[in-house]
Amino acid sequence: MSKAIFTESEYVSDVEVSSTLAVLMVAERLRAEGIDLVDLGAGEPDFPTPRNIKDAALRAIEENFTRYTSTSGIAPLKQAIIDVFRRDFDVEYEPSEVIVTVGGKQGIFNAMAALLNAGDDVLIHSPYWVTFPEIARFLRAHPVFIETAENDFLLTSEMVRRAITPRTRLLIINSPNNPTGRIIPPDEYRKIVEVAAERDVWIISDECYLYFTYPPARPCTAAGLPAELRSRVMVSGSFSKSYAMTGWRIGYSLGPAEWIHACLKVQSHSTSNAPSISQKAALEAATGPQDSLGSMLEEYRKRRDWIVPALNQIEGVRCAMPEGAFYVFPDMRGLMRGQVSTSVELSRLLLEKAFVTVTPGSAFGAEGYLRISYANSLDAIKRGVERIAEAVESLA
Ligand SMILES: Cc1ncc(COP(=O)(O)O)c(C=O)c1O
Repeated sequence: MSKAIFTESEYVSDVEVSSTLAVLMVAERLRAEGIDLVDLGAGEPDFPTPRNIKDAALRAIEENFTRYTSTSGIAPLKQAIIDVFRRDFDVEYEPSEVIVTVGGKQGIFNAMAALLNAGDDVLIHSPYWVTFPEIARFLRAHPVFIETAENDFLLTSEMVRRAITPRTRLLIINSPNNPTGRIIPPDEYRKIVEVAAERDVWIISDECYLYFTYPPARPCTAAGLPAELRSRVMVSGSFSKSYAMTGWRIGYSLGPAEWIHACLKVQSHSTSNAPSISQKAALEAATGPQDSLGSMLEEYRKRRDWIVPALNQIEGVRCAMPEGAFYVFPDMRGLMRGQVSTSVELSRLLLEKAFVTVTPGSAFGAEGYLRISYANSLDAIKRGVERIAEAVESLA
C-alpha cells in the first residue's frame, strides 16, 4: 500500500496557525539552553487562580460532579452571570439569552458560525486579536479591516459608517482592546452600534477584558445598551483573565435568544458543554468573594504606571497610556531604519540579544509596533525593559 498523503481541507488551508511561531520556536530553544528569558509576550495573567475557586473545583471532583452538563451550561452558573450583569450594569437577561462556553474563544466561534454565510464581510477594527480574521476565513467569510492607527487606535462611528457595504453582515468590537489596551468611550460605542444597526449589521462585542479598566475608565458593556440596540449584539465574556483562569476554559455569551439558540446548535455538535468541574469553579468565581480581582487589578495598574514612562525614555520609542487590559503597544518605528525594518525582526533581535520575548505588532495587523504584556512581576518587567533599552541603543 502506498503512503497516505494528507491534504488540508479548503476550510483550513486559508487559516494561519500563528505568524509569531518563528519567534516562539527561538524562545523555546533558548529556554532549553537554560537562558534566563524575560517573558513580556504572555497573553494571560501571571497570578495563580484564587484559592476559593480552586477549592470549589476540588469539591466538584470529590462530589463526582464529573459528567456532561446541559449544552448551555449549569443553571446556577447561567443565573450567576445574569446576576453579575444585573448587579454591575443594571441590566436583565433571561436564561435563554445565555450560554456558557469553552472560553470566550468558543463563544466567538459559535456566534460567527451561527451567523455568517460564505462570502459575507466581517468588519474588524485593526489592530485586532488574531483569532477574529482566522475564524472568518475558516467560515469562508471575508475579514475587512478598519484601520484605527490614525485615531490613536480608537474606532469611531464614522469609520464604521464608511466601511459598511451591502455585503457587511457582522462587526466585531473589542474594547478594552487586545493588543492596544484602548477603550472606546461609552458614547462613541453606542454611536457605533447605532450606525451598524441602521444598516442591518450584527455585532459581536468581545469583552473578555471587561473588568480590566483603570480609573478614571470604568467597565462598559454593550449589554447596557437600550433594548433595540442590544437585540443586535452578542456580548462575549470570559472568566479567563478576570479570575486568572485561562486553563479552566470558561467563557459565556449573552445575546438575543434566537442567536444564542443557533450557538447552542454549534456547541452541541462540537464541545457539547464547558467542563463540568470548571463550571463549578466559575460559579464560585462569580458568586464568591471578589477581593482577588481588585488586588490583581491594582497590581496591573502599578505595572502599567511604571512601564509606560520607562518605555518612553528609550530613544525611538513612543508609548501611549492604555486605559485597560494588560498590554502596552508602543510605536517602535523610530528604531526601524537600518538593521531592523519589521516588528518581527525587532522581536527576534530582542529575543536573541536581550533575551526578552515580546509580540510583533504585525501579528495584530500593525507593522511598526510591539505588544508588550505587563502580566509579569514588576521585577521581571523592570529587568525586561532595561534589557530592551540596552539592546536597541545602537538602533536609534
Ligand atoms: C481579545 C480576546 N478575546 C478573547 C480571548 C479569549 O480568551 P478565552 O478563550 O481564554 O476566554 C482572548 C484571549 O487571549 C483575547 O485576547
